[in-house]
Amino acid sequence: MGFQIWPMGSFCFWVCFVVLSSASSQAADGTVEGTVFIDGKAAIGRIDEDFICATLDWWPPEKCDYGTCSWGLAGLLNLIFGLNALAGRTIDSNGEAVGAWNYTNAESFIRYTVKKNYTIHGWELGNELCGSGVGTRVSADQYAVDTAALQSVVENVYKNVDLKPLIFAPGGFYDSDWFKEYVNKTIKSVDVVTHHIYNLGPGVDDHLVEKILDPSVLEGESGTFSGLHNIIKSSPTSAIAWVGEAGGAYNSGHNLVTNAFVFSFWYLDQLAMASKYDTKTYCRQSLVGGNYGLLNTTNFEPNPDYYSALLWHRLMGRNVLLTSFTGTEKIRSYTHCAKQSKGITLLLINLDNSTTVHAKLAFNSTMTLRRKHRSRTSHHKHKVHKTTIIKLPKGTDAKITREEYHLTAKYGNLQSQTMLLNGNVLSVNSSGIIPALEPLHVISAKPITVAPLSIVFVHMPDVSVPACKVQP
Ligand SMILES: *[C@@H]1O[C@H](CO)[C@@H](O)[C@H](O)[C@H]1NC(C)=O
Ligand SMILES: *[C@@H]1O[C@H](CO)[C@@H](O)[C@H](O)[C@H]1NC(C)=O
Ligand SMILES: *[C@@H]1O[C@H](CO)[C@@H](O)[C@H](O)[C@H]1NC(C)=O
Ligand SMILES: *[C@@H]1O[C@H](CO)[C@@H](O)[C@H](O)[C@H]1NC(C)=O
Ligand SMILES: *[C@@H]1O[C@H](CO)[C@@H](O)[C@H](O)[C@H]1NC(C)=O
Ligand SMILES: *[C@@H]1O[C@H](CO)[C@@H](O)[C@H](O)[C@H]1NC(C)=O
Ligand SMILES: *[C@@H]1O[C@H](CO)[C@@H](O)[C@H](O)[C@H]1NC(C)=O
Repeated sequence: MGFQIWPMGSFCFWVCFVVLSSASSQAADGTVEGTVFIDGKAAIGRIDEDFICATLDWWPPEKCDYGTCSWGLAGLLNLIFGLNALAGRTIDSNGEAVGAWNYTNAESFIRYTVKKNYTIHGWELGNELCGSGVGTRVSADQYAVDTAALQSVVENVYKNVDLKPLIFAPGGFYDSDWFKEYVNKTIKSVDVVTHHIYNLGPGVDDHLVEKILDPSVLEGESGTFSGLHNIIKSSPTSAIAWVGEAGGAYNSGHNLVTNAFVFSFWYLDQLAMASKYDTKTYCRQSLVGGNYGLLNTTNFEPNPDYYSALLWHRLMGRNVLLTSFTGTEKIRSYTHCAKQSKGITLLLINLDNSTTVHAKLAFNSTMTLRRKHRSRTSHHKHKVHKTTIIKLPKGTDAKITREEYHLTAKYGNLQSQTMLLNGNVLSVNSSGIIPALEPLHVISAKPITVAPLSIVFVHMPDVSVPACKVQP
């Protein structure tokens, strides 16, 4: 049960009590009515200011792509260096790398960077050696010993340096037993627990598009996020979780899939699911390179996921709200506090190829609607409690609007490398400038329309929930 904003004829009851069982209905004409439930009471996760990150490169503040510094400080992580964690070990007959890590080389490299005054954001120990590993593996117990060794090297080398880098590890695929033991044994040494995601399998797979559009495949990865979240939550560690590298499909992705519009269904769903389980930063493989670059490898023009990441960065604030959708399982729904206002931003992903969804909103916490009649500075606030029905006077509804960003593929071709925003092509102009990302302004009383195979960001500056009062 909860509260809902919906239109009733020309007279609008702004907030109405709604019963769950009447939350959705299917019409015969290819449309579905559904309801987004948002729990605005408390945040369930909190992402870093610079949640969006891409591998292989980094963006210094003075670097501006295509003439605009559209990223601000996003992705500006300086450098995270991966250290070879196999030095000194031998491979036993089971294929496991055994023995202690020999950090002599790593230490002299770290000393060199300090001597050069390079700012390193973090040192990451190893690459894909956790769990069953890729190529070979290292036990959690040994890895924990080696992480402590790295930490004492860093402590020692940086003892007279102000900016101390963080310790990242293990940078591999999630395995619950391995991570449980590792997190438990690195309470004092690891700052950021990193993992990699290639959940769609090899890039050569001809069924990648079907997999991406299958909600159960997308949801399948939530076990990794929730598993790691639970391990960290139930441990005394103060470490945080990052996705250190995620390209979706391994071995360089797949041309016209992982660099095309369809991949935004996977990518935005991943960003949102990771956030929901309190992942602090999500690093995409890659900024440029392979078939999964955010930028085209030859001309450096943005692929669709670049714009998706940019919209996420501009619209999704740090606090994450528990969100669910009833009506069709083909809708993926997520909410954050807004980045640019005290309101909220909703992300709706429609994986269905023929059904248009009309979504209403319901809140199951005390919420406030800021009313705009009279002046913008003296907002009238109406507190709504669970049992109250509030009617606002006729006429005020038309003044409250929300901002909608609808993303679709050019000519409806999911494998197009051109994305449309509200029906307009997104591309850099001949001076290489990123276009302005302009929203549609829609009267808030209307349900949100989500076209088949489209993605919608909805910024609602006038919806105020307790979880977004503290932090925008
Ligand atoms: C809000 O609703 C969700 C599911 O719709 C539920 O899990 C959550 O506990 C509810 N929160 C409150 C505060 O009632
Ligand atoms: C560690 O490696 C260095 C060379 O990189 C070598 O000189 C040293 O003997 C090794 N230490 C051990 C304990 O094997
Ligand atoms: C590093 O910084 C120190 C102190 O600011 C300075 O004396 C030194 O010359 C710098 N070294 C390099 C290689 O820039
Ligand atoms: C975590 O560590 C404690 C002691 O440090 C130990 O008793 C416990 O069994 C460990 N749990 C796991 C899952 O390794
Ligand atoms: C880069 O863009 C050009 C022009 O749109 C396109 O023909 C080419 O296939 C793209 N390259 C990659 C690797 O996506
Ligand atoms: C639409 O999706 C269904 C599966 O959900 C699939 O069977 C059908 O072939 C798709 N239609 C088109 C035109 O792609
Ligand atoms: C490209 O866009 C920018 C910003 O909108 C504009 O200032 C510039 O004149 C445009 N260049 C061309 C060639 O249209």
